[in-house]
Amino acid sequence: MSTATLTLNGQDYQLPVRVGSEGEVGIDIAKLRVQSGAITFDPGYGNTGSCESAITYIDGEQGILRYRGYAIEALAGKSSFVEVSYLLVYGHLPSRDELDRFIHRLTYHSMLHEDMKKFYEGFPPSAHPMSVLSTMVASLSAYYPDSVKEEDIERNIIRLLAKLKTIAAVSYKKSIGQPSIYPRNDLDFVGDFLHMMFAVPTEPYEVSEIIREALDLLLILHVDHEQNCSTSTVRMVGSSGADLFSTISAGISALSGPLHGGANQAVIQMLDNIRSDGGNYAKYIDKAKDKSDPFRLMGFGHRVYKNFDPRAQLIREAADRVLARLGHNDPLLDIAKHLERIALEDDYFVERRLYPNLDFYSGIVYRAMGIPTNMYTVMFALGRLPGWIAQWTEMRDQKSRIHRPRQIYTGPTDRPYVPIDER
Ligand code: ACO
Repeated sequence: MSTATLTLNGQDYQLPVRVGSEGEVGIDIAKLRVQSGAITFDPGYGNTGSCESAITYIDGEQGILRYRGYAIEALAGKSSFVEVSYLLVYGHLPSRDELDRFIHRLTYHSMLHEDMKKFYEGFPPSAHPMSVLSTMVASLSAYYPDSVKEEDIERNIIRLLAKLKTIAAVSYKKSIGQPSIYPRNDLDFVGDFLHMMFAVPTEPYEVSEIIREALDLLLILHVDHEQNCSTSTVRMVGSSGADLFSTISAGISALSGPLHGGANQAVIQMLDNIRSDGGNYAKYIDKAKDKSDPFRLMGFGHRVYKNFDPRAQLIREAADRVLARLGHNDPLLDIAKHLERIALEDDYFVERRLYPNLDFYSGIVYRAMGIPTNMYTVMFALGRLPGWIAQWTEMRDQKSRIHRPRQIYTGPTDRPYVPIDER
């Protein structure tokens, strides 16, 4: 194993160097504090590797994304979301028999405990579906108590994979005051979700194949993205030994923020504002560049991708395809394309290597499908669940220590206590 040398206060420290299967290099500082008394400082963790992982590989310079070694372009459109979920959770693409059994288990675990319906009644109709989703997922730990037995943990994984779509669809139905629809075992995973979202008891609902295919693709593109904010949250919370449901609920909360999964909703709101402002692109580009203005071009920029986001390319193509097949003409798609063209030629964005990320076009596809804006981030969570589960399982298999970063304290030094009457 090669080493790196760190010189601190005239003393040399030899630090082991770890190299990943794609040649990524990391300096192992796990023993640095014990040896030298110093820690590393990296706010936002931009240069910190928090774990070794065999799940997802990203090369942000080249625009490469692979799940378990398979390029996203190869999986998207060839495999189903359920197949890719299996790949993430179990580490290999399933055989026909393995897939059939997996589908069977996901189908027969999709109903919710009837008592959970009472929870939904407690939420105000204005509740954001993401807060309902994280609450309902956390509540699953009350119905399916924690167990250390591997077969129980595995069953809970299946339960969660099967039930999240039901929880999501019921949240939506609740928010629009419609009766919830039970899962149907004769429909496939994505078709069943669409049926629970859009069917009403008064008339038959037929799942559109165009929409089913498009949603399947979108879910695949969201499955995993290595150590991002929500996934690191899952590993962080899981490292304390918290149960699966509580851990994933924390991941859902982390995803909800506008700088993370919440960006897909924010993009559509931004495009809509630009439209109502008469399509004044230049004004919004200038606002995004102005450091005194908090406005950012939503759906642009990424911590890791400094070239293009391969998922954004696939979603952009899907947006064109789906809108054409549905005969849908969305002025927001034209605004998005204009904005993208202008931004990609602007020095500010070029110098900072800011490209559209996956959220830039996903909202346009969701809109075409009839999915309401406040459900976009829920769609993201549905897609990301297998990734979170894979990362949680890997963290447990690695017998990871509890995650506990250090800090550089900058507050007051020892202060004498002043009794209240003397302050
Ligand atoms: N619009 C305008 N300027 C931007 C944008 C943007 N969308 N993104 C980054 N910048 C600028 C920053 O102001 C900064 O400029 P400076 O160097 O002059 O100070 C520089 O580009 C680097 O940006 P950071 O904020 O340091 O980049 P970071 O890696 O911390 O943030 C993030 C990445 C959060 C994605 C950021 O680009 C952003 O806020 N984008 C908009 C929100 C968004 O689309 N989020 C979804 C991300 S993808 C996902 O989670 C699924």
